[in-house]
Amino acid sequence: MNVLLAGGAGYIGSHTCVELIGAGHTVVIADNYSNSCPVAIERVEEITGVSIPHYEADVCDPEAVEKIFSENEIDAVIHFAGLKAVGESCEKPVMYYRNNIDSTLTLLEVMKRHNVNRFIFSSSATVYGTPETVPLVETMPTGSPTNPYGWTKLMMEQILSDTAKANPEMSIVILRYFNPIGAHKSGRIGEDPNGIPNNLMPYITQVAAGRLPQLGVFGDDYPTHDGTGVRDYIHVVDLAKGHVKAIEYSAGHKGTEIVNLGTGTGYSVLDIVKAFERVNHIEIPYVIKPRRPGDIAECFANAEKAEKVLGWKAELGLDEMCYDAWNWQSHNVNGYK
Ligand code: NAD
Ligand code: UFG
Repeated sequence: MNVLLAGGAGYIGSHTCVELIGAGHTVVIADNYSNSCPVAIERVEEITGVSIPHYEADVCDPEAVEKIFSENEIDAVIHFAGLKAVGESCEKPVMYYRNNIDSTLTLLEVMKRHNVNRFIFSSSATVYGTPETVPLVETMPTGSPTNPYGWTKLMMEQILSDTAKANPEMSIVILRYFNPIGAHKSGRIGEDPNGIPNNLMPYITQVAAGRLPQLGVFGDDYPTHDGTGVRDYIHVVDLAKGHVKAIEYSAGHKGTEIVNLGTGTGYSVLDIVKAFERVNHIEIPYVIKPRRPGDIAECFANAEKAEKVLGWKAELGLDEMCYDAWNWQSHNVNGYK
């Protein structure tokens, strides 16, 4: 199958590229490098030994997307091309709505013209809002996201399911990711955030690398086993493999399927710090800070549907996540730069 990866140079896209090629598929990448760089694609080529057609293109731009579809026989699209920083989305909501929604609409329009009917979408557990109970099951009502980023995901889920309703030939698989961390075993690709990281694991690895002095733990008074926030951390390679399964599933599917991609296990911030220290033999200094606005106490998946529908389940544990995250960061102290 030939798969267009919109946003394929990014963190999850680059890992998915490796797994798709490993499973015998071919890929084309479209990325405007707003949060990535072409070196990531070179590294994927190095890992896989395959030359990857790629376009520097904004997928909100209909002409640029049209060109890609005219020059390549595309069977399916995976749409990773979104802006994802929660805090920035509160400061620049219009930029987030414009980029995330426009990119989705443009891809759908061009796909229709070219009779491409299979679409895999990067959604997020953030659409559940503040959960009343955990684990989160796909049938639970979506909540009120606490930020514009989350709203773009919820709106795009709506746009996609409406599109599938209107076109019975269409297969839409909405993947709700939990918290991807870790990196490819080779240490050649990994997460490379711009500026000071917002997310926990890249913050920890940058403290370990000496780029930041200490971790701030946002709150130790949540109703969790140690008072710190609990999340469902998933190894990015497992997550990438989930996309291979979703692509293969979409060949025989019509309509909209919503699937959580998580492990089903929650770990607290301090569980992560301790595991990282134990696995990598590095101390992570931390201080307790106030709660971060918009954070919830606990969020983890019920991961049964992914296994039942896609035949996928996460295989890598927390130790591998911590080891691989540090293997990437320690060999690439300044990321791809
Ligand atoms: P990322 O920023 O590393 O990757 C996104 C890629 O899309 C980047 O390479 C960026 O340059 C590109 N891009 C953005 N807008 C574009 C546009 N208009 N045209 C072309 N390229 C564009 O992020 P990621 O962590 O790999 O996330 C991928 C997707 O998964 C995003 O949609 C994100 O919202 C979603 N997601 C991520 C997480 C997470 O924790 N990483 C969790 C849930 C959902
Ligand atoms: N945390 C800290 N210190 C930090 C960073 C994070 O204590 O410096 C804590 C947070 O308070 C939270 C946990 O670590 O308890 C995880 O925080 P992240 O920022 O890594 O992840 P979130 O669960 O807040 O959000 C992530 C993505 C969202 C996505 C969501 C669900 O950033 O885009 O997972 O998929 F929507």
